[in-house]
Amino acid sequence: MTDLVRLEVEDGIGTIRLDRAPMNALNAEIQHGLIAACREAAQRKDVAAVIVWGGEKVFAAGADIKEMETMSYTDMVDHSALLQDFTRSLAQLPKPTVAAITGYALGGGCEVALACDFRIAADDAVLGQPEVSLGIIPGAGGTQRLARLVGPSRAKDLVFSGRFVKAPEALAIGLVDSVVPASEVYESARSMMARYVGGPAYALRAAKEAIDRGLEVDLDSGLEIERMLFSALFATKDRAIGMRHFVEKGRGPAPFE
Ligand code: CAA
Repeated sequence: MTDLVRLEVEDGIGTIRLDRAPMNALNAEIQHGLIAACREAAQRKDVAAVIVWGGEKVFAAGADIKEMETMSYTDMVDHSALLQDFTRSLAQLPKPTVAAITGYALGGGCEVALACDFRIAADDAVLGQPEVSLGIIPGAGGTQRLARLVGPSRAKDLVFSGRFVKAPEALAIGLVDSVVPASEVYESARSMMARYVGGPAYALRAAKEAIDRGLEVDLDSGLEIERMLFSALFATKDRAIGMRHFVEKGRGPAPFE
């Protein structure tokens, strides 16, 4: 793993820390690092949920424009697969994820946030997809995930204009889920993810998969995905523990494994 992306684990929560001063511009090394960090977070039993955090000043100001500036079409045919893979690895991480956004989350940075399950923003955060101003379009999933999150016309407004969106507007259009004082972003994300520590990991994983895969298909296919995953959970110890806990009138959360 690269030093530019670290997985730091504490009390059951993994923090994927982007660390490339000054703006966390996402070069190929950080993209590969994020894929590796997601793989490790997915595999580790002591990680129940994941925060993506760029530090106190900035989330990420996008893909590294200096790295891309001299790339040709054929260079980008290969590189564009990596651009999508690193956000896909986050979107498909089988545990709850939240982006803790301070400062700028632009371009690929906004796309990293879009690939998380939830987004908590600082009151001074600025989000956006400014790629058109560079003569390109979002390439790390933004055209797809932004439209799914905020709807096609809002996504078109943001992508066509490339304008910067401040935290209050981001909250109003559903681009972020909550806005908190800048100094509280990371702790808010920790509180949110702490709910899942000691939780029913397989049920959470199945719920995420059913919702995300179901959004990509027609209703009947989505219901079939739900049915298969629902049935599969009857093979888990957590299901047995959760139902036994209820039947025996246990108090508080069930003692999941
Ligand atoms: N790539 C490479 N370097 C970047 C960068 C980026 N995305 N964003 C900022 N930097 C660099 C700047 O070049 C500058 O470097 P130097 O000190 O060597 O000159 C340094 O970070 C600080 O940036 P600024 O001086 O510009 O700081 P600012 O406070 O005046 O502005 C900003 C901050 C508004 C974020 C501005 O830097 C900016 O607009 N950055 C680019 C945002 C952008 O267009 N992102 C999309 C990238 S393309 C993409 O992401 C494609 C995709 O979908 C995958």
